[in-house]
Amino acid sequence: MQVTYDFSSKNVLLIGGTTGIGRATALAFAKAGAELFVAGIGQEKGDSLKREIVDAGGVCEFAEVDVRDPKAMRALHERAFERFGRIDVAFNNAGVPGKTAPVHELDDDDYSLLMDVNLKGIFHGLRHQVPHMIEQGGGAIVNTSSLFGVMGFATTAVYCASKWGVIGLTNSVALEVARKNIRVNAIAPGSVMTPLLQGMFGSEQGAKDTVLPLIPMGRISDPAEIAQLVLFLSSDASSFITGQAVVIDGGGFVAGADQL
Ligand SMILES: NC(=O)c1ccc[n+]([C@@H]2O[C@H](COP(=O)([O-])OP(=O)(O)OC[C@H]3O[C@@H](n4cnc5c(N)ncnc54)[C@H](O)[C@@H]3O)[C@@H](O)[C@H]2O)c1
Repeated sequence: MQVTYDFSSKNVLLIGGTTGIGRATALAFAKAGAELFVAGIGQEKGDSLKREIVDAGGVCEFAEVDVRDPKAMRALHERAFERFGRIDVAFNNAGVPGKTAPVHELDDDDYSLLMDVNLKGIFHGLRHQVPHMIEQGGGAIVNTSSLFGVMGFATTAVYCASKWGVIGLTNSVALEVARKNIRVNAIAPGSVMTPLLQGMFGSEQGAKDTVLPLIPMGRISDPAEIAQLVLFLSSDASSFITGQAVVIDGGGFVAGADQL
């Protein structure tokens, strides 16, 4: 089932959109009438996403940008603001799985990669999105955390730390702009079958072997299901929701330690 949202006349900046959840969300926004500026790593995949949206009659720009690079992030936002005049929705979704190993087997570079992409990358986006939305009188921001942003998981300690950080950032910024007609929320997905999940657990089969036993609903989510939550949190249907991290995980969190 797909709920129909109306994002016609809305402009969306989606960072981390070349594959997985971001790509599915870009397609869902385009289907709902939004005009998109997408960024991420992977020029070819970005171009193919842009083609798919444009061929279907939509509007999409793509720029390859590394969220760790503050200058490139500034330039991305300037380009997006200039292209569309205003950005109504920002979806900060870029993320990497990093190395899956016990904490004592991680080095400084492993730590920096996770924190710089998953947490600092969102900071680099918020710094430009917030003043823009204050100036234009409103907007909605959605940041991607994780189920691993509300629980711990052995062998993903720094990934978890980065995703807990995303929720702290989200909650606090939501309070900073609560009276400015800007809502800031996070999504906290459980397992979604994407390149990142496969990277985290070695392969598609490795991911299934590790996470399926932990999911009460007995399946791994499809990225399109996560996209529906992002559209909800970006739309007026969620007009009184801010500062939340919405878990979308087939029941894994509430099952808790019983499953482990
Ligand atoms: N797949 C899951 O089970 C799951 C669960 C919870 C949260 N998440 C989060 O969802 C988000 C999307 O991941 P996904 O599962 O769709 O995986 P994915 O690998 O398909 O997508 C990751 C996206 O981030 C972008 N990206 C990575 N490094 C970047 C960088 N340095 N600069 C700019 N963009 C960069 C990639 O281009 C891609 O668009 C991530 O933040 C991830 O942590 C995923």
